[in-house]
Amino acid sequence: MIKIEIVKDAGAAAKVAATHYKSLLNDKANAVLGLATGSTPIPLYKELLELHSENAIDFSQSICFNLDEYCDLPNTHRESYANFMYEQFYHLANVEENNRHIPDGNAHDLEKECERYNDLLSQHGPIDLQLLGIGRNGHIGFNEPNTELKAGTHIVKLSEATVKDNSRFFEEEEEVPAFAISVGMKSILSSKKIILLAIGEEKAKIVHALMHSGITTLLPASFLHIHTNVTLICDEAAASLL
Ligand code: GLP
Repeated sequence: MIKIEIVKDAGAAAKVAATHYKSLLNDKANAVLGLATGSTPIPLYKELLELHSENAIDFSQSICFNLDEYCDLPNTHRESYANFMYEQFYHLANVEENNRHIPDGNAHDLEKECERYNDLLSQHGPIDLQLLGIGRNGHIGFNEPNTELKAGTHIVKLSEATVKDNSRFFEEEEEVPAFAISVGMKSILSSKKIILLAIGEEKAKIVHALMHSGITTLLPASFLHIHTNVTLICDEAAASLL
């Protein structure tokens, strides 16, 4: 079941989501956090950094795992998720460097890297609070709509729709990497609690589809209906077709 909380705008969504982090980290300082990229969580990271600067939240013992990373994009590239996390969060958050985990999309042996990341997740998991955005095609992490989904961390060929969507972050569509590493559905669905953020009218169709869908691999986010502790926080625009 997916609980839904509709708020006015992106700022309000960030504030609501941030309260979940605050209460989790107050109860469990060494919580395992599943983090996400994309434009949607940026206001949330801002909000968390604000709380951190007021000493209202402490990440010093938290262990963070990102969902995914592009393949063959240098870590120093503006759009690599390693760089995104540094710029949006880590450079001001007091997460220990050895507790900041992101798949290495430049690893020599990408299959081995998937195994390594999967093992790390099993060692530290389950994730206490998993943050998710949703692609306009219903992907979560980079688990793309397909006839089958993967349980574990895997290499994924990005769908045409995702390449097109994510080209807004690059100068040209040709620059968007063709492949990525993504955690699989198992680590997402075994998280104790999940917050799915959907903001803006370009998410209205997929939010409607998600809330009216059965469980189908063609809409990977629909598997969240199986989970017992998922909250979809969306703004009025994303909820406008519900
Ligand atoms: C990327 C990420 C996803 C994210 C999605 C939505 O493809 N891999 O984790 O949820 O984009 O992005 P945005 O928040 O910019 O709409």
